Amino acid sequence: MWGERDRPSVEHISLADAARIAVVAPATANFIGKLANGIADDMLTTALMAFNKPVVICPSMNVNMYRNPILKANLERLVSCGYHVMIPESGDLACGWTGEGRMPEPEAIFHEVKRLLGPRDLDGLRLLVTAGPTEEPLDPVRFLTNRSSGKMGVAVAKRALARGAEVTLVSGPLKVPEPTGVNHIQVRTAAEMMDRVLERFHESDIVVKAAAVADFRPETFCEEKLKKEDFGTSINLVRNPDILATLGSRKWPDQILIGFAAETSDAIQKARVKLKNKNVDMLVLNDVSQPGAGFDCDTNIVRLLFRSGEDEQLAMMSKEDVADQILSRALALRRMAHH
Ligand code: PMT
Repeated sequence: MWGERDRPSVEHISLADAARIAVVAPATANFIGKLANGIADDMLTTALMAFNKPVVICPSMNVNMYRNPILKANLERLVSCGYHVMIPESGDLACGWTGEGRMPEPEAIFHEVKRLLGPRDLDGLRLLVTAGPTEEPLDPVRFLTNRSSGKMGVAVAKRALARGAEVTLVSGPLKVPEPTGVNHIQVRTAAEMMDRVLERFHESDIVVKAAAVADFRPETFCEEKLKKEDFGTSINLVRNPDILATLGSRKWPDQILIGFAAETSDAIQKARVKLKNKNVDMLVLNDVSQPGAGFDCDTNIVRLLFRSGEDEQLAMMSKEDVADQILSRALALRRMAHH
């Protein structure tokens, strides 16, 4: 740790200074416990204590150790401090047990490293992203919602952050952990989402609307839980404001507005109408009837439609990769709008 007597250097500091990224794979429960609690008593933990660049942690251990609440709390602590914790794979473990705790495949770790070292081409840009469903309450315990998990919008927020943007995420209730490092504003209803988005719209360079906003809400909200006898056989609905269309009508020419469309039939025709009517620069169409696309899965299959009439079909890929594709197109559109 301290170099040779005749070659004085502080090895744990020079190691930390020389690297652009650190990967700990496999990361044991003991190591995770030390890192999360600031213990630096060997070469690895001391070098990491002095390391201010991305660190990838790959927890690998027996399934019961992995499920231990102390380990879980330590991992949460690391995530909240900005460490990148990879989720272990499930399967046969070296100890004979089966379950989660396997180290991710080296290819997956490499992919994560490449992602974290990628270009910071969104430096200086302010991104506004919406994600997740909205909830439209009927009474204190009942509401209308949809199957959006928030994965798509969160992937856009995370990738934009990694590429250097300043990110504000306005989301309905998420089924995935909230990303660290972004300005996260939680909302519940479409009306709240509209208000929060409009507050920040004028200071945003690129807006990506991946949220699945409810088109309707119950006409009345009852403060008390409705009783069986209070219900008729129908619920009256009223239309929610269309956030995307409102932004389209207010946007400056150099603000890039990207909408999504979730369709199950006549997808392209409907998406083209949305692109035009809502004055958006690009529409991301997911045909949500295909397996591996749309709501609540980790992958998506999208077609990008542009104002010029051009479109581009992308293959099935992870939502993070879809996010990268969207952001690269958004950046190109922004550069075009500036010239
Ligand atoms: O969250 P995940 O589980 O990862 O799923 C991702 C997704 C399928 C929800 C996402 O990829 C997606 O397609 N989001 C938009 C879904 C949707 O509401 O589509 P739409 O065709 O109803 O709306 C079109 C666009 O108008 C969307 O950008 C939507 O945000 C916007 N909109 C819709 C209604 C409304 N009142 N206000 C809006 O701004």
